Amino acid sequence: MPVANAKRKEKAKLVTKFILFLKLLCHKESMSLNFPPGSLVFAPMEGITDGPFRLAIHEAFGGWDQYFTDFLRVPTHGFYTKRKIIEHFGEKIYTSPVLNPLNAMQILTTARAQTERLVKEIAELNINHLNLNLGCPSKTVNGHCGGAYLLQEPETIAQICKLIRQNFSKSFTVKIRLGFNDTENFDELIRILSDSGVDGIIIHGRTAKQKYDGLSNWEMISRAVNLTKTPIIGNGDLLNVKDIENAFKNSGCYGLMLGRGALKTPWLAAQYKNKWSTDQTVKNILEYYDRIEWCYRIYGDNDEIVLKRMKGLTRYIFSHEEINLSPLLRMQTLEQFKPMLPEMVNSVFQ
Ligand SMILES: Cc1cc2nc3c(=O)[nH]c(=O)nc-3n(C[C@H](O)[C@H](O)[C@H](O)COP(=O)(O)O)c2cc1C
Repeated sequence: MPVANAKRKEKAKLVTKFILFLKLLCHKESMSLNFPPGSLVFAPMEGITDGPFRLAIHEAFGGWDQYFTDFLRVPTHGFYTKRKIIEHFGEKIYTSPVLNPLNAMQILTTARAQTERLVKEIAELNINHLNLNLGCPSKTVNGHCGGAYLLQEPETIAQICKLIRQNFSKSFTVKIRLGFNDTENFDELIRILSDSGVDGIIIHGRTAKQKYDGLSNWEMISRAVNLTKTPIIGNGDLLNVKDIENAFKNSGCYGLMLGRGALKTPWLAAQYKNKWSTDQTVKNILEYYDRIEWCYRIYGDNDEIVLKRMKGLTRYIFSHEEINLSPLLRMQTLEQFKPMLPEMVNSVFQ
């Protein structure tokens, strides 16, 4: 009897995999995206996903099909030099033939900002994926009519996207939330974005008003999958391999984006793809801290910056765990901070 059960389970698994394969085959428009169906991508995160950080994650674990810069604000007055744009992308990433195609540049704009000029500048550089931030819920950004504010003005979005599309021929994606205050114009947004020639739509399943309250609404993300042929990349609250499997299986998404889950478990993409065991957690976390230090140092940062980065990431690594981090976060120097790490990590993850 147990043998028959195991066989039945195996068969069900095969059927599920086959259905997923068929769904992925149906994404005909995916040709112009520079990452394949079934991809896992590392979310843009302001103050975190700078060049050294993305380099560290790739060197330590890899597995992510794209890494996003945080947003570069399109200026309304004045302008950026090409050097400034490359710095935002990460110089070592820009010049690496392996890393460059794995990275996406995110911009954030308004109707008044000089989008055309900046996009033309980016198009002249060796940057293969441009992403437009239409989901930022920050009061300051929305106060200047940028980020998620624009979700209230689908026609302005259409104009901005068409402008970008005309000037940038490589992968162009947008990152949205479900709406600003509510989801009323969600269907219209998906239609307008699909008609504007974007290559992919990344959806964080919350409204801007929600910020991070409640849960990401994966039913709405699935709804978008059914509304358009443009590839949808779902985002929100994916923390482990089970979440990733379920999201692919239930939503039909082309790809998935992970933010906080990827900060807690930066090897999650490699674990999912290569079926790594979870016994490696302690080793992986210590490796992660080592790589972070190494990458910030090769970008020329000093102890103070390295310590600041490590403290910031510590909050995410230990999120959802029962531990008092104050003794660790109170440390004033890297020499005090580093020796405390192995004990703390072992006490929680061993
Ligand atoms: C600290 C932090 C900074 C963020 N900065 C950005 C950003 O610069 N651009 C952006 O599009 N989203 C930004 N986000 C949103 C994430 O990319 C992601 O959409 C959100 O965290 C939901 O995904 P998650 O549940 O996997 O974390 C940020 C999120 C966090 C936690």
